[in-house]
Amino acid sequence: MTPEMLYALRDQAGVPSHPLVFLVLGVLTFALHMAAVQVMLGAASLTLRGAFSASTHWRRLAAAMLVTAKIAVSVAIVIGVAPLLFVQVVYDPFWYTSNVLSAWWVIGFIVLLIAGYIAMYIFYWKNHDIMADGGRGGIWMLLSLALLLAVGFIVHSLTNQMLFPEQWMAWYAPKGVVNPDGHSLHYWNLPRFLFFIALSAPVTGAWLYGYRRYLQGGGETDAAYLRWVRGLAQSLMLVGGVVSVLIGAVWMLTLPEKMTWFASSVWMLMALVALLAVVALPLVLRDRIDSGVWGYGIFGAGALGLIVVGAAREMLRFVTLLGSHGYDAMDYRINMDWYSTSLFFVTFGVVGGVTLAYLLTVAWQAGQSKGLYTPSSTVTRIGQWSVGLLVAWTVLYFAVGFYVWAR
Ligand code: HEM
Repeated sequence: MTPEMLYALRDQAGVPSHPLVFLVLGVLTFALHMAAVQVMLGAASLTLRGAFSASTHWRRLAAAMLVTAKIAVSVAIVIGVAPLLFVQVVYDPFWYTSNVLSAWWVIGFIVLLIAGYIAMYIFYWKNHDIMADGGRGGIWMLLSLALLLAVGFIVHSLTNQMLFPEQWMAWYAPKGVVNPDGHSLHYWNLPRFLFFIALSAPVTGAWLYGYRRYLQGGGETDAAYLRWVRGLAQSLMLVGGVVSVLIGAVWMLTLPEKMTWFASSVWMLMALVALLAVVALPLVLRDRIDSGVWGYGIFGAGALGLIVVGAAREMLRFVTLLGSHGYDAMDYRINMDWYSTSLFFVTFGVVGGVTLAYLLTVAWQAGQSKGLYTPSSTVTRIGQWSVGLLVAWTVLYFAVGFYVWAR
């Protein structure tokens, strides 16, 4: 594939804002997607581990983690859409080719995801009180985990196939015979996939610190349980962090030839330092994690660490496509559209911000108060604002659509 052919595959309409905007948003939302995926996988695994345990601590944690996993799947899906949008805007020649080459799997992705989510719900329906009754039907949770991992593997393969334009013809027409059925996944790098999956352990450890702090804030009296959760969180972070870094090292050693520069790059070093700093954070904070927001801060630091890892991953893609294939994502033709750019940021910052602030505040305060929870008048006003903003957004959306259509 010559650079000219790659450029010819671009959308001739150009992009509605500077490509850097899409690249930065792509990294940020990818990191958030990863955080949700990793909490989802970690919480589901802890549920499976704890539900069938004789220990009441494990069963209590399993009950809490089942609720977490259920919600994390939906967050992972919703936030997964965002990097999908950004990657297909600036890397469309690569992303669409990779998707068409494995079209069956792109559609199969959705079927497997639905099946995986349903399997998790079946486990949930079978287990009303894990704490009292123990777990039932673990096979459903196991199936759910396997299907969700399969979904991740498909995305991994699609994201990596796009980095090998030199192989596309061989995949599309093996030995010169065209095979357009899209039945195969053509490329994967297991250490890279396992690196992102293994990070579930430290990320879930960081999540457990937050869970523990939340219980403390709600006046939890079971000190033994809090101590136990802390020990588990610590082990997940330390052991999981070290294992992830080791798997990351294997990924670096198995990088294809055109990407070997990455292993000794400043980007890789920054990602490594960020990961190690997050893993070491609880050891530095010690008992401060029991006061203020420090207990939650560990997960916040984890999210920042994932942004650094996401930025390094983006540099691997950007530089590989530029250096080896002459494709510069930054020189995309800009067809500046201020309306859609500002609508995006207003939706994200104002509508999303106010609505999320309301939902999170209510959920938070309800969990921290004893007895019947009544929101304060300020919180209620934020709720009214969020409904108003959503209505205004919807009206604006259709109004502009009709205006453009009628012109
Ligand atoms: C629920 C199970 C899922 C798992 C376990 C999962 C896991 C992963 C992993 C491991 C990666 C990194 C791949 C790599 O760089 O090698 C990834 C990337 C990605 N995921 Fe997910 N994912 C899941 C669901 C989704 C869904 C439902 C969407 C979209 C709606 C999605 C969209 C994406 C996108 C767009 C990327 C790549 C972004 C880029 O290349 O910049 N994922 N996912």
